[in-house]
Amino acid sequence: MKLRSVELEIPQANAAVEFLEGTWGLIDAGTTGKARYLRGTGEHPYVMAISDGAGPAVRSITFSGTKQELMRIRSRAAKAGIAVEASSAELDEPGAPAGFRISGPEGQRFRFVHDRKPAQRIKDRNKPIALTHVPINASDADACTKFAVEVLGFKVSDRTRIMDFVRCDRTHHALAFVRSGVSALHHMAFEMQDLDAVMRNVGRLKDAGIEPAWGPGRHGPGNNVFAYYIAPFGAVLEYTSEVEKVDDSYRVGGPEDWKWPPGRVDHWGVSKRDDARLHAAERNFRFQPLA
Ligand SMILES: [Fe+2]
Repeated sequence: MKLRSVELEIPQANAAVEFLEGTWGLIDAGTTGKARYLRGTGEHPYVMAISDGAGPAVRSITFSGTKQELMRIRSRAAKAGIAVEASSAELDEPGAPAGFRISGPEGQRFRFVHDRKPAQRIKDRNKPIALTHVPINASDADACTKFAVEVLGFKVSDRTRIMDFVRCDRTHHALAFVRSGVSALHHMAFEMQDLDAVMRNVGRLKDAGIEPAWGPGRHGPGNNVFAYYIAPFGAVLEYTSEVEKVDDSYRVGGPEDWKWPPGRVDHWGVSKRDDARLHAAERNFRFQPLA
């Protein structure tokens, strides 16, 4: 199972697409109906869909897997009495996916699909490859983590005072649930080829007059390099690389394992976090409940 895409609804979608393609580095993957699709260089047919709408809102967070992986989630959901909704109305999108939607404990819409037409990889060392994690602000992070483990079949990688990190493959986290008292999209992290690719893009954005809201730096849990930006359309985006790969031998850390010395917010000790702006932007995109 892999994190595949996030589907957003935004007023003035065209300006958002212009930023994501022209500045952030995503690649046009087509249009269907009201949705514009953007891809990375990896095998996912797209990584972001942007629809014009009332928003800002998250329509869904999508994972792709094998038919067997999808079946396992369906049967666990059935056992837990959670409704599964076939997403037949959304088949007309890049990748020709088939799958279903399931609602999380706080109305988060998760889609699980099998792409019948995966994309061809593109060679470009400077562009985002794929989405690698999408943390979510949660009113009740414990309940969301329990849902991710028991219904979605994810595994807990680490728990800190602030958030729970869960994974669906060997990447340290695909989702994280942030103890914040609200339900909202926290940020979207794009995997880059390596540390140099992150830094080249930090430099490229600097040339365009755009500074990170936090970073560059290196995180504790996941040990990944990061640089966070607030997009003009209000979402928090991250360039990241070197996210730790873990397996079942990984020792699940707790809040006591992940404490920084005073004044530190990352391993390198050079990054400054624009707390006020990030705190607001990390709450801009609410979840659109299942219709
Ligand atoms: Fe992140």
